Amino acid sequence: MTERRTDRLLLRRWREADRDPFAALNADPAVMEHMQGLQLRDRSDAFMDRIEAHWDADGWGLWAVEVPGVAPFIGFVGLWPADYVTGAPMVEVGWRLARAHWGHGYVTEAAREALRFGFEDVGLDEIVSFTVPQNERSWRVMERIGLRREPSRDFDHPNVDAEAYPQLVRHVFYALGRDEWKASVRR
Ligand SMILES: CC(C)(COP(=O)(O)OP(=O)(O)OC[C@H]1O[C@@H](n2cnc3c(N)ncnc32)[C@H](O)[C@@H]1OP(=O)(O)O)[C@@H](O)C(=O)NCCC(=O)NCCS
Repeated sequence: MTERRTDRLLLRRWREADRDPFAALNADPAVMEHMQGLQLRDRSDAFMDRIEAHWDADGWGLWAVEVPGVAPFIGFVGLWPADYVTGAPMVEVGWRLARAHWGHGYVTEAAREALRFGFEDVGLDEIVSFTVPQNERSWRVMERIGLRREPSRDFDHPNVDAEAYPQLVRHVFYALGRDEWKASVRR
C-alpha cells in the first residue's frame, strides 16, 4: 500500500492533474529561494515523471500531498534516494509545498508518516535529511520530526554549481536511526 491517510492529509501517487499546480509551485521564487533557480514546465514535468518512475521501480518515493476538502494538490513530501552524498546508499526525507499552504503543519504531519513508512514498510535502517543553513523552515521541520543534527556529516553538495550559487554549497546534515525512531514513537 503506497497511499496513506493522516489526520488531515491524503498522501498519494501522482496524477496528470498535478502537473499544472506542480509547475506553478516550481516556478515560484519564494518556494525555490534555496534552489538553483526555478524549475520551469519541462523540468517540472520531467521531475514528476522521475518521481512516478521511482515509485514503479522501488515501491517508495515522494508522495503527492492532497488536503481533502481544501486542495487536491499542495506539493510533495516523502522519501528520495540521496546516494550521491557519500556514494553509499542513503535515503532522505524531503518536502516542497506551495507557498499558500505553509504554516499549517502539513509537512510535519506528512513527514512523520514518511518516517513510519520508511522504517516499517521499506525497512530502512536510517533516514537522513539536509539543507542549506539559511533554509530555516526546512531544518525546523527536521528538528520537529525528531531528526538529530550531525555536524560531522555536513557536506558540500556535489550537484550545486558553486560559481553561480556559492551560498547553496554547504549543507547541514540531520539523521535518525530506526531504533531511535522506535523509541521516540513508543513514548
Ligand atoms: C520547508 C517547507 C516545506 C516548510 O513548510 P512549513 O509549512 O513551514 O512546515 P510545517 O508544515 O511543518 O509547518 C510548520 C509551521 O506551521 C505551524 N503550525 C500550524 N499548525 C500546526 C500543526 N498542527 N503542527 C505543526 N505545526 C503547525 C507551525 O507553528 C509552523 O509555523 P511557523 O513556521 O510560523 O512557526 C516549506 O517552507 C517549503 O516548501 N519551502 C520551499 C521548498 C524547500 O525549501 N524545501 C526543502 C528543501 S531542503
